[in-house]
Amino acid sequence: MSTATINNHNMVYEVIGTGKPVLLVHGFPLNRQMWRVQIDALAQSHKVIAPDLRGFGESDPPSGDVSMATYADDLAALLDHLAIDQPVTIAGFSMGGYVAFEFWRRHKNRVGNMMLIDTRADPDPSEKAAGRKEAAQRVLKEGPNFLYDGMMPNLVSDRTFNGQPDLVKSLRAIMATSSPAGVVAALHAMANRPDSQSLLAEISVPTVVIVGAEDAISPPSVMEQIAKSLQTAEFCVIENAGHMTTMENPDAVTTAMKKHLSA
Ligand code: MLT
Repeated sequence: MSTATINNHNMVYEVIGTGKPVLLVHGFPLNRQMWRVQIDALAQSHKVIAPDLRGFGESDPPSGDVSMATYADDLAALLDHLAIDQPVTIAGFSMGGYVAFEFWRRHKNRVGNMMLIDTRADPDPSEKAAGRKEAAQRVLKEGPNFLYDGMMPNLVSDRTFNGQPDLVKSLRAIMATSSPAGVVAALHAMANRPDSQSLLAEISVPTVVIVGAEDAISPPSVMEQIAKSLQTAEFCVIENAGHMTTMENPDAVTTAMKKHLSA
């Protein structure tokens, strides 16, 4: 684990392994630990870079508003800090996918490959965006636990929720490391994120689209449409998993990622 001052805030990240760089971007309200199995497996053949985004995990909370552009620019600055100037494979999970789209918009010369995992290219419908902003107000008053409780049944499959209490506990422990300021800022950033649907046809790098068969947040039908709209994409459905594929069926996700990296 390392810490660097990135765009005036302390960012905590791991860099493990050697080889071509793979940048793993976590979802909301999570941190790099959601990639634990993938970090260790991919590091056998690649240089894996796994940061905690601003306000999550061990990174400092944000001091003001953030946007997907803030997170994307933090990642570019982290690559500068690590003196990585060759194109990277960027793997974005859910909110990390929203960041990956923004990274493409702002830093496309740094992208050699993409992995879009349990994410969406469309913006929030207005009701959902309003709901996120209301939730942000409530987090400011009473903290984020109500939000985590409400999210959990949608994050994992019913089978995981009812049958894997240890996994649900680990996921909850990851959430608990998020700072309230980080959660509030990210809720606004997600509500205000741009529509990335028209971007898909412009993404010219090889991409794999990975989704849990029972993902309730970014369902297979939505992700299949993303794959169809991209220039070069493989589409991979992970069985026995809801949204949290990297934790619910970690080996299947690792296999899909390795396959893409070795293609
Ligand atoms: C995530 O997993 O990052 C979130 O569920 C994304 C979202 O709420 O849109």
